Amino acid sequence: MTDKTSTDINLSDPQHIECPYHAYQALHQTGGVGRDPNIGVVVAGYDTLAALAKNTEVYSSSITEDGHGPRHMGINPEPVQDDVEEILSHAHPIVNALFTADPPVHTRHRKLIAKALSPRSVRALEPQIRAITNDLIDAFITRGSVDLLPEFAVPLPVTVIADILGVDRADIWTFKHWGDLMISGNIDMLSHERRREVAKAVVELHEYFVPRIEERRQNPTDDLLSIMINTEVDGEPPLTTAELLPIIDQILLAGHETTTNLIANAMLVLLNDPDLMRRLRDNPSDIPAMVEEALRWDPPIQCTFRRATRGDTLEGADVAEGDMVVPLWAGANWDPAVFADPERFDIDRSMAKPHMGFGFGPHFCAGAELARIETRIAFEALLDRLDQITLNEDESDLSHLPSFASHGYRRVSLNFVKR
Ligand code: HEM
Repeated sequence: MTDKTSTDINLSDPQHIECPYHAYQALHQTGGVGRDPNIGVVVAGYDTLAALAKNTEVYSSSITEDGHGPRHMGINPEPVQDDVEEILSHAHPIVNALFTADPPVHTRHRKLIAKALSPRSVRALEPQIRAITNDLIDAFITRGSVDLLPEFAVPLPVTVIADILGVDRADIWTFKHWGDLMISGNIDMLSHERRREVAKAVVELHEYFVPRIEERRQNPTDDLLSIMINTEVDGEPPLTTAELLPIIDQILLAGHETTTNLIANAMLVLLNDPDLMRRLRDNPSDIPAMVEEALRWDPPIQCTFRRATRGDTLEGADVAEGDMVVPLWAGANWDPAVFADPERFDIDRSMAKPHMGFGFGPHFCAGAELARIETRIAFEALLDRLDQITLNEDESDLSHLPSFASHGYRRVSLNFVKR
């Protein structure tokens, strides 16, 4: 990119990770497109990003250049080291699927997932999600304090996803471990040692799921895994094991850390705005609007990635073939041309255009309905059962996880009075 007027930003700068919104505001003052010299072109302008997201021919989700599928080796251009390749050689062959696939492959995968995660089937899970939520609250309610992430916001979505996939709840902490490693391998700069850990997790995940896939092929049940394995779309053959493995791993990892961070990010908003907390407690029907505004104002996924398949120009900025292009979904949510006073948290704002907290276009979050329901139920139950919620500052660590792509607090410890 040669444009001299565009804004440079450093996504990996610890200050940016703490508060990325200043950089987005600066980008909006110069047309909404800029560059991170270590990563590539960054796009925060709402309309530019909306057009980019739909243009899958030029902006590909298959970001690995070496012809392999998503091997979770991070976004650094450094070649995968030999000892890491050796570990990965024990994994099932990996192909691009769903999140890392482009049309027409993506379209086929998406149809299958749409069926398995349809709003109807997700809404049917509501009683189960409520039961999981209340069980978690039961475990700490008499104590008057809770370490929100490990005791509530982490186990809630991981348990739900384990149940949906039809795998043993006893394994949820293993999933959490794999998910954490793989999400960093999708979106962060990884050290050599971290790449080794991620590669081992890929192999373990495959060893765990391949026999379960085979079993569901022989004896289907009504769980998501069985539906994904056995559904045929438009007369095309069902998904192969090689296609299923990356899709399962995307659902596992997209299905937990995101919702976890949304719950904690939204809780911080309420702690800082007691009037809003009171309003939601008195009017639980306002909770969905709060959840949407939290997804706009402080979303758990700040950005993902695309790779330019050919040269292009975005708002006067040159994009070269092969450039990494970063859709800053959270940046678009702070575009003042679309969201008036974007820094104001306002659950009554009318959104003429949808927020991009779940992305936009063909890759729009496949789990959006599930995430919305989980977060709504989480706040309905917390506000119904916990009174006088306050932050325990001594026990909390409100610095952010070291990722510019996913955005969440390290530790949120609460005191409360049982209602
Ligand atoms: C608050 C929670 C969540 C947030 C903020 C979130 C955010 C996103 C975003 C921004 C994308 C777009 C990626 C892109 O275009 O590059 C995405 C895609 C995706 N999400 Fe979510 N997500 C959440 C929860 C979930 C859940 C619960 C699941 C699964 C059960 C899920 C599964 C997926 C999948 C499979 C994709 C890829 C879809 C495709 O490529 O067609 N997400 N998500």
